[in-house]
Amino acid sequence: MANSCLWLICLFSLMLGHGVLQLEASHIVYDNLKTLQPATANPTYRTSYHFQPPKNWMNDPNGPMIYKGLYHFFYQYNPNGAAWGNIVWAHSTSKDLINWVSHDPAIYPSQEAADINGCWSGSATILPGDKPAFLYTGIDPKNSQVQNLAMPKNLSDPHLIEWVKSPNNPLMAPTTVNKINASSFRDPTTAWIGPDGRWRVIIGSKINRRGLAILYRSKDFVHWIKAKHPLHSAKDTGMWECPDFFPVSINNQSGLDTSMIGLGIKHVLKLSLDDTKHDYYTVGTYNLVKDIYIPDKGSVDNDSGLRYDYGKFYASKTFYDSAKKRRVLWGWINESLSETDFVKQGWAGVQAIPRSLWLDRSGKQLLQWPIVEIESLRQKQVKLPSTVLKKGSVQEVLGVTAAQADVEISFEVKEFDKAEVLDPSWTNPQLLCSRKGASVKGGVGPFGLLVLASKHLQEYTCSFL
Ligand SMILES: *[C@@H]1O[C@H](CO)[C@@H](O)[C@H](O)[C@H]1NC(C)=O
Ligand SMILES: *[C@@H]1O[C@H](CO)[C@@H](O)[C@H](O)[C@H]1NC(C)=O
Ligand SMILES: *[C@@H]1O[C@H](CO)[C@@H](O)[C@H](O)[C@H]1NC(C)=O
Ligand SMILES: *[C@@H]1O[C@H](CO)[C@@H](O)[C@H](O)[C@H]1NC(C)=O
Ligand SMILES: *[C@@H]1O[C@H](CO)[C@@H](O)[C@H](O)[C@H]1NC(C)=O
Repeated sequence: MANSCLWLICLFSLMLGHGVLQLEASHIVYDNLKTLQPATANPTYRTSYHFQPPKNWMNDPNGPMIYKGLYHFFYQYNPNGAAWGNIVWAHSTSKDLINWVSHDPAIYPSQEAADINGCWSGSATILPGDKPAFLYTGIDPKNSQVQNLAMPKNLSDPHLIEWVKSPNNPLMAPTTVNKINASSFRDPTTAWIGPDGRWRVIIGSKINRRGLAILYRSKDFVHWIKAKHPLHSAKDTGMWECPDFFPVSINNQSGLDTSMIGLGIKHVLKLSLDDTKHDYYTVGTYNLVKDIYIPDKGSVDNDSGLRYDYGKFYASKTFYDSAKKRRVLWGWINESLSETDFVKQGWAGVQAIPRSLWLDRSGKQLLQWPIVEIESLRQKQVKLPSTVLKKGSVQEVLGVTAAQADVEISFEVKEFDKAEVLDPSWTNPQLLCSRKGASVKGGVGPFGLLVLASKHLQEYTCSFL
C-alpha cells in the first residue's frame, strides 16, 4: 500500500495554561482528555489514501488554496491530544494534493483582544497581486465569536510558514447594535468581489431556530460593514456552520474563481447544519442587485435537501484550483469511536479524498469525482471481467486481501421496468432509506459490494447501491 502522507513529526506545546473554557461549540469538551498525550499513534488502522496528521485530533478543513504552484491545506487541530480542544490551524503543503509535508501551525491564539481563547475555522481569499488572506473565527476574552484577518509574513516564501494577524482584529464582532448572537457567529467563507469593487463574505449564524448567512462588505478587506440583509436564511434549520458559497458553470466541468459572476453561471450555497451534523447544498441564483442568494425552485434549503455525501462528511469547504481550473472539495470525516478509544488509537478524524466538483447538465445537482491525482497511489491491479449477476448471486473478486483498496466498478441494469414505481409520498429518500435499510430487496436490487467478508459470508460490510 502506498504511503500517501509524508510527515515530518513536530511536537509543540502551545497554549498550555489557559484554564478551562466553557465555549459554545458543536464539540463536546472532555477536559480530562484534551491534553492526554498518546505515546505513539497505533498504526494498524491508519489510512493510506486519506489526509491525516501523524497523531491527535483533527476536524474542519481550513483555508485550502494554491499559491505559487503549491497546494496549502490547514485544519483544526489539537496539538496536545486526540480529543477536541486547544485548537490551532495546523498546516501542510503538497505538490499534488496527495503527498503532504507538515509545517508548524500557521495560526494559534496570540492576540489578546481577538483570539486568545481559540482560533476556529475560516477560509482563504486570494487578493489582487496574488496575496493570500485568511478570515477566521477567533474566540475573544469574553468567549465571544469574532472574525479576524491574517496574512503571510513573507510572500516570497512559497510555503507561507509565518502568518501575521491584522492589528485591527477583530474586524467583525457581535454588538448590542447589530444584535448578532456572540455564541453563534462563526466560519467566514472565501470572500468574493462584486462589480462595485467591494468584497463580500458570509458568516454562519442563527436567530432562534432560523439559520442565516450574515453578509459583510468591505472596500479594503480590513473595514467590514454588515449588510442589512443576510445573503440567505431559512427557518427551522438551527445554526449554520461552515457556509461555502461559490459559482459553477452551466454545461462546463471547469471550475470558476469564487468572484466569477455573470451569464452561464449558477451559484451553490452549502451549509453544515449543527443540528444534524450533515452538509447540505442548494443550487440557485446570486442576485447582485439585492445581494441575496435565491435557491432554485425545488432546491430544498433544509435538512431534507441534497447532500454531498451520505456518510460521515462535515464542515466541508471548496477552493478554486487555478492551476487545473477545477473546484476542489475537502470534507472532514468524523470517525465514530468513543472518546476513550480515540485516545487509545492516538488520533481522531481524517479528511475525505479531495474531489472535483461541477454542475450536472440538469442544472439541479452537483457531480463529483476523486481528483485524478489519487490514481498515482495505485499499485497492484486486480481485475474482475464483466459478469452477469443473477439475483441473489455473489461473485468473489480474487486477489485482494488489502484492508484498503481503490475500487472502480460499474453496474449496468437492463430491466428497469422491474423496478418499483416511485411513490409520490416518498418525499424524503434519506428518511426512507434509513427506515428500510440498505439490504431490502426490490425489483432490481440491491446490488453492490460486500467488503471485509469472511469465507462463508458470516461477516461482511456491505456497500449497496
Ligand atoms: C522570504 O522567503 C524567501 C524564500 O524562502 C527567503 O529567501 C527570504 O530570506 C525570506 N525573507 C525574509 C525577510 O525572511
Ligand atoms: C445564542 O446562541 C446560543 C448557542 O447556540 C444559544 O444557546 C442561545 O439561545 C442563542 N441566543 C439567542 C437569543 O438566540
Ligand atoms: C469550459 O471552460 C473552460 C475554462 O473557462 C474553457 O477553456 C473551455 O473552453 C470551456 N469548455 C466549453 C465546452 O465551453
Ligand atoms: C424543507 O423544505 C421543504 C421545501 O420547502 C418543505 O416542504 C419541508 O417541510 C421542509 N422540511 C422541514 C423539516 O422544515
Ligand atoms: C462525531 O461523532 C461523534 C460520535 O459518533 C458524534 O457524537 C458527533 O456528533 C459527531 N460530530 C460530527 C460533526 O459529525
